[in-house]
Amino acid sequence: MTEATLYGGVVNRRITVRDLQGAKDRGERWAMLTSYDMLTAALFDEAGIPALLVGDSAGNNVLGYDTTVPVTVDDMIPLVRGVVRGTKRALVIADLPFGSYQGSPQQALETAVRFMREGAQAVKLEGGRRVLPQVELLVESGIPVMGHIGLTPQSVNTLGGYRVQGRGDAGDLLLKDALALERAGAFALVLEVVPSELAERVTQELTIPTVGIGAGPGTDAQVLVWTDMAGLTPGPGPKFLKKYADLRSVLTEAVTSYSEDVREGRYPAAEHGYS
Ligand code: KIV
Repeated sequence: MTEATLYGGVVNRRITVRDLQGAKDRGERWAMLTSYDMLTAALFDEAGIPALLVGDSAGNNVLGYDTTVPVTVDDMIPLVRGVVRGTKRALVIADLPFGSYQGSPQQALETAVRFMREGAQAVKLEGGRRVLPQVELLVESGIPVMGHIGLTPQSVNTLGGYRVQGRGDAGDLLLKDALALERAGAFALVLEVVPSELAERVTQELTIPTVGIGAGPGTDAQVLVWTDMAGLTPGPGPKFLKKYADLRSVLTEAVTSYSEDVREGRYPAAEHGYS
């Protein structure tokens, strides 16, 4: 990529955190998606998605948990490995799971190093001012950090559910968290399920990119969980979600047809090389 636009340039190397900063400076919006495996990562990469998050939402979408709380570093490592191997261009960001960084900056560094050794180019962690020492040490150690504030699913047990964060006076505290994370060296910030006016205010006050999910149209970038966005997850999902496909119906129809064909002796058939 010589002229470093995220979507229009010549693409022959990995996107970097500097490219994302350049996009903010130019006012270029971008899309991030989660990815948990090599096949989807390669597809999203070829489609031009500039940043892929190996999210701990793998807990709900891959491992069958109700929350992200049980997800471990050992669960996440093979997923990061697959996404890194599947991509040539996208910036791959590894989510630090619950309990793998809150203990101390040193613990955060040890966890982040494991992901960087697998080929991730950045890590993400949840929390505001309480994780500033972690962010500072990672950045000083050469590890780009994406912050994540608002609805932080790893804290679902203290938040008392998946509800909107930052309403009223809590909005000022959230802005303070955002500014503190920027000062600590975070290269971008996820704003999850916060009022859109607040997300817009944070986006205007910060020089680093904001990445919204359920935070309205005023952020620099958007992120969605790919299984939600593609209509694989059952149910309607949250109101902010746009389903761009109905993969659940497509796959259900495909596996049902396959099963019926086998039962009825229609597959395999002559066109598959059998007489
Ligand atoms: O794990 C995840 O998928 C996330 C995004 C929703 C931001 O943290």
